[in-house]
Amino acid sequence: MNHEYRTHEVTSDQLVDHPWYLDWLAAVQQGFHDAAASEELAAHQLSIDAAHRAVMRGVWDTSPRPRALPASIPVATFSEWKGTLNVGGALIDCHQISDVTVRASHRRQGIARNLMQDSLTQARGRGLAVAALTATEATIYGRFGFGAAVFEDEIELRVGSGFAVQTPVTGTCEYLDLAELPSTARVVFDEFHATQTGSVSRSDPAMGVYTQQINGETRKPDPKTRAVGHWDDEGRLDGYATWRAVPKDEAIQVLDFVPTNPAASVALWSFLASLDLVRRIRFRRARNDEHLPWAINDRRRYIIKQHGDLLWLRILDPAACLTARNYYADGSLTLRVVDSMSIADGTWRLDVSDGRATCTPTDATPEVEVDVAALGSTLLGGVNIHALATVGHVRGHAEAIDRLGILLRRRREPWCITPF
Ligand SMILES: CC(C)(COP(=O)(O)OP(=O)(O)OC[C@H]1O[C@@H](n2cnc3c(N)ncnc32)[C@H](O)[C@@H]1OP(=O)(O)O)[C@@H](O)C(=O)NCCC(=O)NCCS
Repeated sequence: MNHEYRTHEVTSDQLVDHPWYLDWLAAVQQGFHDAAASEELAAHQLSIDAAHRAVMRGVWDTSPRPRALPASIPVATFSEWKGTLNVGGALIDCHQISDVTVRASHRRQGIARNLMQDSLTQARGRGLAVAALTATEATIYGRFGFGAAVFEDEIELRVGSGFAVQTPVTGTCEYLDLAELPSTARVVFDEFHATQTGSVSRSDPAMGVYTQQINGETRKPDPKTRAVGHWDDEGRLDGYATWRAVPKDEAIQVLDFVPTNPAASVALWSFLASLDLVRRIRFRRARNDEHLPWAINDRRRYIIKQHGDLLWLRILDPAACLTARNYYADGSLTLRVVDSMSIADGTWRLDVSDGRATCTPTDATPEVEVDVAALGSTLLGGVNIHALATVGHVRGHAEAIDRLGILLRRRREPWCITPF
């Protein structure tokens, strides 16, 4: 088989400027077992890719068998763009990766590995410090240096008779005007993103898919979506949630939940629990250190159905990542990062004082050695470093690993509500 690797940049939201786009999208839809893209989906997805100024990689088989899929449809796809990630106290540019597919007939020939190696190496060359993705399978990306960093719980809250929020509920909730939802969501999400460690940016055209005002599969407006906002006691809008009713289950499905502070979050939950004809509230992306069970009269009404990983991080530049985030403890450590793809290896002296770090390359003997995927998992403070040390992904004296763990720890766990 002859494989041709090509890279295209999405420079506008006009199909005429991107004659390869529909075939490329067809390969993505096939890779994820989705229906062929409708005109609406293709046009809307192109507007998102144009807003991201995304780079689409593809691999084309230049000599397909007669009657097989035509040569114009790539056998592999891979997209990437620059977004921002909240690393704790700061937003940094982030190399976002999505649409990774290899046609079943062309697997295990190193295509995904080649695409990933090129993408990560070039991103590092452009000065990007971290790459991120959300994964359909947990078995794929560890070998490329990605570590699961942000987790989520799928939950059900049993409300109705006997349910009560005991923590004082402040501010006011009101239904939002859906005509204004895109701009409302923009303002509130931007504040969430600026303050929530683990959050990943959303572009304007993608916002309707995240609020689910626009159906993700058809890209048509969804008439069943409702939205509520929360205003604090000073009258400032500081949170919103969107949901859809599931009448047969006397349930609502929360679609997007964007509180910019814990008081807004408790008030939004309290409002949703007060809706008529609702006994269950379901949500796929609850934070995994959620405070709600501590705010209600019966914590067993908050049921975790499934625990999952959402955001995987791949450190490209350890020093840039470690100096970008903030810290809650002071300390020093000599740290070696081991990277089998030779992108992020090195040894640094990490000095943290007054919440900021300096990272200086050194030839000194490292006190702690971390695999690059383990550093990705712990950068945002969402994983206990001793769990990684127990299975050999972090190595060193227990006291030195303790020191690193204390440095990386955050007050709350990271949270991300933006799959991509
Ligand atoms: C996952 C996928 C992209 C891999 O493509 P590929 O070209 O076959 O991968 P490569 O040949 O480059 O193999 C790279 C490595 O990953 C391994 N691998 C590939 N797919 C894997 C899978 N689904 N689970 C576990 N390991 C996998 C290979 O064995 C190989 O391991 P090695 O480097 O240690 O030898 C492809 O199987 C696919 O398209 N799957 C369906 C869509 C999907 O799940 N995409 C991921 C979206 S998050």
